[in-house]
Amino acid sequence: MSVVGQPVDRVDGPLKVTGNALYVADNKVDRLAYGYLVTSTIALGTITSMHTEEAVKAPGVLAVYSPDNPLKLFAYTQNQNDENKPPLQDKEIRYHGQVIALVVAETFEQARDAASLIKTTYAAKQPTAEFDPAKATPPLSGTPEVNILAPGVPSIDAALTASEVTVTATYTTPVNHHIAMEPHATLASWTGDHLTIYTVSQGVRLVTARLATTLGVDQAKIYVHNPHVGGGFGNKWGNWAQVPVTAAAARALGRPIKTVLTREQTFTVVGHRPASSQTVSLGAKRDGTLTAIKHVGISSLSPASNFYEQVANTSLAMYASPNIHVSRKIVRLDVPPTTIMRAPGESNGSFALESALDELAEKLGMDPLEIRRKNDSPVAPNNGRRWSSKHLDECYRIGAEKFGWSRRNPVPKSVVDGDWYVGMGVGTATYSAGRGEASIKVRFQADGTVKVSGTAADLGTGQSTVFSIIAADKLGMPVSKVIPELGDSTSPAAANAGGSSSTSTNGPAVQVATDAAIQALVKFAAETPGSPFHGKETRYADESLVTEGRSMTFGALLTEMDVPAVEATATSPRVNDPVHAFRSFGATFAEVRVNRWTGEPRVSRMLCVVDAGTIINEKTARSQIVGGLIMGMGHALLEDTRLEASGRFANTNMASYLVPVNADVPPIDVHFLNYPDTKLSALGARGIGEFSIVGAAGAIAGAIHNATGKRIRELPVTLDKLL
Ligand code: MOS
Repeated sequence: MSVVGQPVDRVDGPLKVTGNALYVADNKVDRLAYGYLVTSTIALGTITSMHTEEAVKAPGVLAVYSPDNPLKLFAYTQNQNDENKPPLQDKEIRYHGQVIALVVAETFEQARDAASLIKTTYAAKQPTAEFDPAKATPPLSGTPEVNILAPGVPSIDAALTASEVTVTATYTTPVNHHIAMEPHATLASWTGDHLTIYTVSQGVRLVTARLATTLGVDQAKIYVHNPHVGGGFGNKWGNWAQVPVTAAAARALGRPIKTVLTREQTFTVVGHRPASSQTVSLGAKRDGTLTAIKHVGISSLSPASNFYEQVANTSLAMYASPNIHVSRKIVRLDVPPTTIMRAPGESNGSFALESALDELAEKLGMDPLEIRRKNDSPVAPNNGRRWSSKHLDECYRIGAEKFGWSRRNPVPKSVVDGDWYVGMGVGTATYSAGRGEASIKVRFQADGTVKVSGTAADLGTGQSTVFSIIAADKLGMPVSKVIPELGDSTSPAAANAGGSSSTSTNGPAVQVATDAAIQALVKFAAETPGSPFHGKETRYADESLVTEGRSMTFGALLTEMDVPAVEATATSPRVNDPVHAFRSFGATFAEVRVNRWTGEPRVSRMLCVVDAGTIINEKTARSQIVGGLIMGMGHALLEDTRLEASGRFANTNMASYLVPVNADVPPIDVHFLNYPDTKLSALGARGIGEFSIVGAAGAIAGAIHNATGKRIRELPVTLDKLL
């Protein structure tokens, strides 16, 4: 039986539970000095003076870098394609919590204490710090709107007017933060003009390219190492300020430096998910068939990153409708950088679309699941392409059965359990899938193990175990003898961890590289003089080389031949399919209880039925889906970064920025359909990283409406809104 699809323990599990997995901040090197970031206390304006004399004289302090004593930095890309000013080069303040100095000292405590001695004065200006949808403008770049109209239909509004039934409502979502357990950290160390850098990232290649430009050094001289990442969710895609300043300070001082962000700094030095306001209008026939979808999405945007969420995009991908309009608008705010966060655009967008669909179902007296099944799109709504593989209706059907959807009473407040109103909701999970180019190296080693290397990242997702499973399956070996090597910039270029494409991209590359390595091993055995297989017809099976009347493990052969390893590198290409559209799909069900006296909402059960192609590791895949649903719970009920009029984020700590904790998390069930998507790759795996957060907030808000009759259109749905 193949190991692919079995529940396999993480290969890095023992290292992690014994505390032996070194995350960036855990690393220590000789002569290490510590960096501490100082951040601005206004949101907009200019620094008029910085008094650093006391800090410079404080015990243990090695240097204070600031606009008055800048580091040598060149063109700086923080994230995506923005062009930013490198940190500490000028006195302009663009957001509250911007890096204005780096203190370096012999110990972390000395650096932190010295940082507190720096006195900064500012000429402050009034920032734009209110997310006012009335002030929205079209984005400076990107397509401001997409219109798909049936022949003869002049506009989306005409399509809505001609519809038998319509609903329109506006939904809002606040700023969210990623809250990865591991804070951002960087350790930089120079040997001559070669830089070794340990830094959190969703892909070490993201670091080398950007840092080379910013430091003005040859990319080949930068070595990045980051084998373990404690959560990313999009926020470790960026090359945030601590990376270039730590590297440049280490160069200037001739000492290795480690800078670790405080939790508070992870709210401002690095990016956040923008706020949104979305107005969705749906038109339908009386039988529930959609005739028009108009989704106007407004996202906040920080000039410090130029990233906004295309929140309306879900409406281009989800339900069938002859007429669809999606528009993208922005509100510029003087806030820390906006950035990608799990299912960018679509997690917020689906909350609005799913809620609007529920409102339409209610108006039509239809079951929310029925209206989704009725409008399931047989082709991609935006371009008419056939789906490579879609079994969403089966997800709805199996989910309804497993969840007991038939017990749902459409009348709010009719299901009561003691002090609690009980309701059920449903949402569609989806996210785009793809397969990029990736290269992987597979190496047979004399000790009988096999190493699989690529510049991928394991953010806690289980990617490294996926490498071992796929190679072990091809090699006929135990998973435990296949050692994954990720997060090292000297490895072949594999996919970074983003856009739910690690496994779908790297998995096929592990397959072709394993095949190539087997070929190289057989060739080595049969063609090397002195090999027991020399000149013989040889094949590989189950860790061994085999020829007529003789078999030997590769470890024994390499040992006997005194060769440390035989390896091969191979590249799997980007998918080239002009005919199909690729997406993962699923159906998410939520049961929520709302206390009739206090309004407190508690999710009591969730289920996601997943159609994401081949599942490689049932255990870590389940964990990914459960994680997405829990993040969806936070999105729906808790997470809310508050922006003060001063431009300061008010709740930059985990006491007041709430995420679900164990006590909040109910039993969560995950069911995989496991139909290989053979049009995407021979492996058949699509992505699962982001899609389970999509639809989750909609399902929860729908369940709350079913429980109480209250339709809350503003996330998070907190108890004050339910009283
Ligand atoms: Mo993801 S938001 O592409 O890390």
